[in-house]
Amino acid sequence: MFLFCCKHHISISISISIFISVSVMIKDDLIEAQIMKMDPNFDRSLLPFGSMANTGVGFITRCALIPQDSFSTFTVLNNCPYTVWAAAYPGGGRRLDTNQTWLLKLPSPTTGRIWGRTNCKFDSTGHGICETGDCGGKLECQFSGSPPNTLVEFSLNQGKNLDIFGISLVDGFNIPVELKPKSKGCNRVVGCTADINGECPEALKADGGCNNPCQVFKTEKYCCFSVTERCRPTDYSKFFKDRCPDAYTYPTDDATSTFTCPSTGATGYHVLFCPTN
Ligand SMILES: *[C@@H]1O[C@H](CO)[C@@H](O)[C@H](O)[C@H]1NC(C)=O
Repeated sequence: MFLFCCKHHISISISISIFISVSVMIKDDLIEAQIMKMDPNFDRSLLPFGSMANTGVGFITRCALIPQDSFSTFTVLNNCPYTVWAAAYPGGGRRLDTNQTWLLKLPSPTTGRIWGRTNCKFDSTGHGICETGDCGGKLECQFSGSPPNTLVEFSLNQGKNLDIFGISLVDGFNIPVELKPKSKGCNRVVGCTADINGECPEALKADGGCNNPCQVFKTEKYCCFSVTERCRPTDYSKFFKDRCPDAYTYPTDDATSTFTCPSTGATGYHVLFCPTN
């Protein structure tokens, strides 16, 4: 056992020394704090969701005694007919050609995200750029990717013996993704496999993806900056929800888009890009 103390708080302290490069990460934490205040009945500090890269105030501190000697494995498979540069924060990143797999082992408890990057060019030192999901031009990501990107988000073994996970479109969509728990007795597959890019509303279209409206309009209606206003679905968030009912489509869209499995100490997940290809 060790004192797993205030994970989010730690990320904020780090930010003081290297605040420019980790600004997206800090803001993620800020948004979580807001969401937590909105619904006191659920401990949203467990969630990595609601992670738009551009808003927020406040931060979370939380301490708990958690055993650290376990791991969670993510088997990331690219089933797309094109190359995907898989990325994980924490975890790094790597190129996956069609049918290639990345076995990613993360110490548990952990909170993080996995996404795919498209149309990347990296040099031999691992520096370059991607059309979607780029994380500061690095092959091995050290923070979140830039929208639009479909996010697999997870908060594993952070208390209550629960893994919480889901797919979020709060940073938009770039690649169809499916997340499948491998744990015993936990079989719920979570996916977003619709042709979101093909059907993307004109105003949300982006090179290689489809933006979340908050990213485009940056208004209260779409971003729910305020902790006092109620946060509602919009026509644009419904566009995403109709096509991907499992996915998290606007801030506080938790009820239908967060899933749980028991934390067994040896949990595993499959992440599949382009599952229906
Ligand atoms: C990927 O795997 C499938 C099934 O094994 C195979 O049919 C297909 O040819 C493979 N594609 C590539 C590009 O290797």
